[in-house]
Amino acid sequence: MSKINVLVVGSGGREHALVRACKASPMVAWVHCTPGNAGIAYDAQCHQIADTDIKGVVELAKRIDADLVVIGPETPLVAGMGNALRREGFKVFGPNAGAARLEGSKSYAKEIMRAAGVPTADSAVFTSFAAAKEDLDYFDFPVVIKLDGLASGKGVTIVKTRTEAETILKQNMLNECWEDTGTKILIEECLAGQECSILALCDGETVLPLEPAQDYKRIFDGDEGPNTGGMGCYSPVPHVPPNMVTEIIETVHKPVIAEMAKRGHRFCGILYAGLMITPEGPKVLEFNVRFGDPETQVILPRLESDLVEVMLACAEGNLAGHELEWKNESAVTVILASDGYPASSSKGDVISGLNYLYGGVEEAEVFHAGTARDGNGSLVTNGGRVLAVTALGWSILNARTKAYQAAEGISFLGMQMRTDIAKLPAEINIPQR
Ligand code: AMP
Ligand code: GLY
Repeated sequence: MSKINVLVVGSGGREHALVRACKASPMVAWVHCTPGNAGIAYDAQCHQIADTDIKGVVELAKRIDADLVVIGPETPLVAGMGNALRREGFKVFGPNAGAARLEGSKSYAKEIMRAAGVPTADSAVFTSFAAAKEDLDYFDFPVVIKLDGLASGKGVTIVKTRTEAETILKQNMLNECWEDTGTKILIEECLAGQECSILALCDGETVLPLEPAQDYKRIFDGDEGPNTGGMGCYSPVPHVPPNMVTEIIETVHKPVIAEMAKRGHRFCGILYAGLMITPEGPKVLEFNVRFGDPETQVILPRLESDLVEVMLACAEGNLAGHELEWKNESAVTVILASDGYPASSSKGDVISGLNYLYGGVEEAEVFHAGTARDGNGSLVTNGGRVLAVTALGWSILNARTKAYQAAEGISFLGMQMRTDIAKLPAEINIPQR
């Protein structure tokens, strides 16, 4: 078989990890990325087309003769980039807009889960402030308030009191004249337990799980402060053993994929379930329809198999019979974020400490997210999450030590980094498997 050209759409740490995995595939001739970032530019041919420019990406795919297009972020998926590319005959890894609604609308995801009998938190949907406020009587506090649509991981607030809940509802649902804006929100039961992310490859019918990962959503140590896109991650997850992954695939991913197919929305790509492992068993907090960021930066470095081969199989609808092999190592990723994140982000601060051009550090791998080159060619910050530093190790503790050693050598003005990523109790930090 002749070698193929792959186009990765996006510009984050996730896309850098995807680009590296594609570059490592013996099946691949050229890896292209749009728009990419300063680090991706060392691993792929980057183009200047925004990841939200559907027409532009279709034209680019034609121009570079792409054999496979991998769409990284949720926004273009929800907007129908998959549909536009498939209409032109391209093989695409990533769902069409109809299936991407699983992430694009939390109320739609709840509807699908209800129909498919998937365990999830109790919730109610509102577009009227008065009705939402009244419903608070029927929830025990704390409750979780969620915006229905895409919010880059920042549309969820856990509120401890009724007063706090009313303030959040008002902020989101009313305009300056105290009229309903029609904004759709969910009020949800607050679940307690340990979280984990279970991502699976899907071709519309067959589901193939990836190794579990544990993300850290809050900005500060000890899970304090506002939610972010994710500040760090580790894999595997000791509290999610292989039999639990199988249970989750059987009770969550497979019924959801079947329900979507029944409704005419074949799901091709990654179905990512964010779960809470409660005393009653795993319950779904949310679905994403793409690789996680930073989950991808711990999962892909552990993958032994050829990612391109299985993504292509998904795009062609023949995933059945494929299996994945994993390295016998753990991975830890630490995110370095810019000043002000997640409320804002700073740009243009010079990054130092990366000891060769695109950012390798001894014993660790650096994936670029918000990075760019300034007028002098210096590497500078260009967004909220700037770099992801990943290390592999013979245990989570070993990987953690290496990731932090590498991360501590990197600096830029106002750099934020959690210091407790993958800090697990000693008894859990035994070598994996
Ligand atoms: P989501 O974007 O829905 O995953 O929510 C972001 C984060 O909010 C999750 O990773 C959890 O930490 C938290 N969260 C969301 N829903 C719930 C819930 N029902 N109970 C407790 N925590 C939740
Ligand atoms: N790490 C969470 C996400 O990718 O949505």
